[in-house]
Amino acid sequence: GGPVDVDISSLRPSEKMTVLWRGQPVWILHRTPAMLESLNETQPLVADPDSKRTAFPTPAWAQTQWRSIKKEYLVVVGICTHLGCSPVDRFTPGPQPSLPSDWDGGFLCPCHGSMFDLAGRVFKNMPAPDNLVVPPYMYVTDAKVRIG
Ligand code: FES
Repeated sequence: GGPVDVDISSLRPSEKMTVLWRGQPVWILHRTPAMLESLNETQPLVADPDSKRTAFPTPAWAQTQWRSIKKEYLVVVGICTHLGCSPVDRFTPGPQPSLPSDWDGGFLCPCHGSMFDLAGRVFKNMPAPDNLVVPPYMYVTDAKVRIG
């Protein structure tokens, strides 16, 4: 398939939508200020904070702490870079009962426990070899994202 246009005008802060692109789920997460702030806390805890690894290369323009064009909107492929399972949402900032105390939101892969922060960056010492994939995309308008 070709590019997919997505209307994000109704996506409220802290909401995530999933669209299919080339048969893959692409997540668009509207990050709140608190969610963006959490990236400062996870910065020293993630394996590759600047997305320099090349197992699943990150576009140069997304090799930043927030890994997106606009800070408020994370756009990533929702597939674990380990063996391809679908991570689940762990949005609530702050420690989660069954997870390490340094966990602060993000996504958890149910298959082998890889954890990703709210920029899709994998935490240190996880099975996943790389951060979640940032697909090619652009803003057609403020309210419309074109993926692919
Ligand atoms: Fe996600 Fe193994 S497939 S941790």
